[in-house]
Amino acid sequence: MTIDIQTFLDPATLAERSEEERRRAARPSPDEATFIDISDYLDEDFYRRELAVFRRTWHLACTSAELAEVGQFVRWDFMGRPVIVTRSGPGTLSGFYGVCAHRGGPVGDLELGSGSARRFVCPYHSWSYDLRGRLAGRPSPEHFPDSADSNIRLTPVQVAEHAGLVWINESPDAPDLESWLGSVGYAIQNGDIGAYSLESHRRYQVDANWKISTEGGIDTYHIDHLHSRTARGILDNAGTLVQRDGPHSTAIVPITRPELVGAYLPGGLGDRLPANVQCWVFPTHLISLFPYAIALIAHYPVAIDRTVVDWRILISREISSAELRAEIVRNYEATFDEDRALTPLIQRNLESGVLKRACLSVKEDRVLHIHQAMIEEFS
Ligand code: FES
Ligand SMILES: [Fe+2]
Repeated sequence: MTIDIQTFLDPATLAERSEEERRRAARPSPDEATFIDISDYLDEDFYRRELAVFRRTWHLACTSAELAEVGQFVRWDFMGRPVIVTRSGPGTLSGFYGVCAHRGGPVGDLELGSGSARRFVCPYHSWSYDLRGRLAGRPSPEHFPDSADSNIRLTPVQVAEHAGLVWINESPDAPDLESWLGSVGYAIQNGDIGAYSLESHRRYQVDANWKISTEGGIDTYHIDHLHSRTARGILDNAGTLVQRDGPHSTAIVPITRPELVGAYLPGGLGDRLPANVQCWVFPTHLISLFPYAIALIAHYPVAIDRTVVDWRILISREISSAELRAEIVRNYEATFDEDRALTPLIQRNLESGVLKRACLSVKEDRVLHIHQAMIEEFS
């Protein structure tokens, strides 16, 4: 199918299209019902193949605003490997592993998730590296047989920027970011990320397979139920429009009470799309765009049954009240906490072997899509 995200994001046709979508969501026939195998969450070989896919796909590092000035960096543990991304020059980004080229010491301050630096130093023997990851100095260089210091550098990681977001890819053979994103890149750009500023960034572990964790972020079916005391009543699950694009997808979820959402913004919603645009970037990134806030969420596997959840909340720069900004973050946190509490219980139940397959409604197509896209990437 040809993808026309531009039309898809047209406010004038949103209501009409959602109505059509609601009609199409009538009960599917039994042979249309879709199932996923529970072994996708438990099988060690499946998991090993997933990790290989993670190692060659693009992953969000941070927002461009976090690396606005030369010297600014972010450093984090990316699935067991320390990664540093820097603004190494005006308009230039560099990425490398924080694994010292001498004997593997930790490069950069382990405690610092972000900051500003001119050099990154390994504490073991004080080798230092510049913002591009090249060796800048080492004590007693004359004692080393290899005097060509200029050839020594930290192992690089690919970095690219798109529409206010910085991405990394561990594979040197990866397709460029823009072609990887396809039309979902247009939807992200349409979100105007530069008009929002970072309000909160959290990382925590959950004892569950990464797919259980990530599926909670893209399933609008559960919103009115698990989140009946938090996020309920804002989104129109039945009217959701989903457009797949290769392994990615864009979902437009109409906002049922625009007056509530508009109340966050000094000028109301204005002519903005009364919808939550959810950009799904395979395999794990949800970029959830509301007119007043943006959530950037990823779920990284660290073991078959353990996942790091990483989320950032960005809030519209139009909202200046610190109190209101804090309230928005609290609302997100309350919703995420409900998912966080439930996820390990699902893991335990799937491990019990009672359920062999899961049955999905047509409105859970994106859950199915993750499994299908992953299996396709294996080949
Ligand atoms: S291991 Fe880093 S300086 Fe020796
Ligand atoms: Fe949820």
